[in-house]
Amino acid sequence: MTEIRTPRLILRRWHDDDLLPLAEITADPEVMRWMDDGSVLDLEQTAEAVERWEEEWDEEGFGLFAIELLASGELAGFAGLSVPDFLPAVLPAVEIRWLLGRQFWGQGYASEAAHATLEFALQDRGLDRVVSINRMANDASENVVRKLGMTSEYETTHPVHGFALSVHSIDLTEYHG
Ligand SMILES: CC(C)(COP(=O)(O)OP(=O)(O)OC[C@H]1O[C@@H](n2cnc3c(N)ncnc32)[C@H](O)[C@@H]1OP(=O)(O)O)[C@@H](O)C(=O)NCCC(=O)NCCS
Repeated sequence: MTEIRTPRLILRRWHDDDLLPLAEITADPEVMRWMDDGSVLDLEQTAEAVERWEEEWDEEGFGLFAIELLASGELAGFAGLSVPDFLPAVLPAVEIRWLLGRQFWGQGYASEAAHATLEFALQDRGLDRVVSINRMANDASENVVRKLGMTSEYETTHPVHGFALSVHSIDLTEYHG
């Protein structure tokens, strides 16, 4: 059972009772604006997403962690690793991703979870490189990318949806938390 504790968070695999709080987050257009094609997800679509994430954990040995707040036990969102199949040009690669419910923004939780994810990528999975793929103008996400010390690689367009994407990467052999 993969579980990471940071000063304020538990990063862990998904539980059945995460589904309702996650579905509240994925139903929020402000949160989902920069994800995939920008659509919100209903309960069934959210359940399908969690199922895919858990499959990725089983197949790859990494995936998206549920982020639980240590103090309250609330589900705040996700952070973790995923293979970015939607962007063949960047493959082979492992992408770091993050998403928080709106009430959890602006408290440093995404950065805390992202640092723990990079340590997991390096120490537990032996990965030497991780990328981040963001829609252009997603300033909050680019802010996390910058704080992690990721380097800008190139800009491209989403093969299906056509919007502009920026690709960053980090050499984990030079990552010092
Ligand atoms: C991207 C996203 C996760 C960023 O969340 P966030 O809360 O802004 O990110 P952080 O955890 O870095 O916190 C940001 C701010 O919290 C503040 N903060 C408050 N308390 C803090 C603490 N104890 N430690 C650190 N920062 C703290 C800081 O001011 C920080 O901003 P700064 O770095 O400019 O100083 C969030 O906007 C989101 O969920 N967006 C929708 C999903 C998305 O776009 N995902 C990316 C595509 S995969």
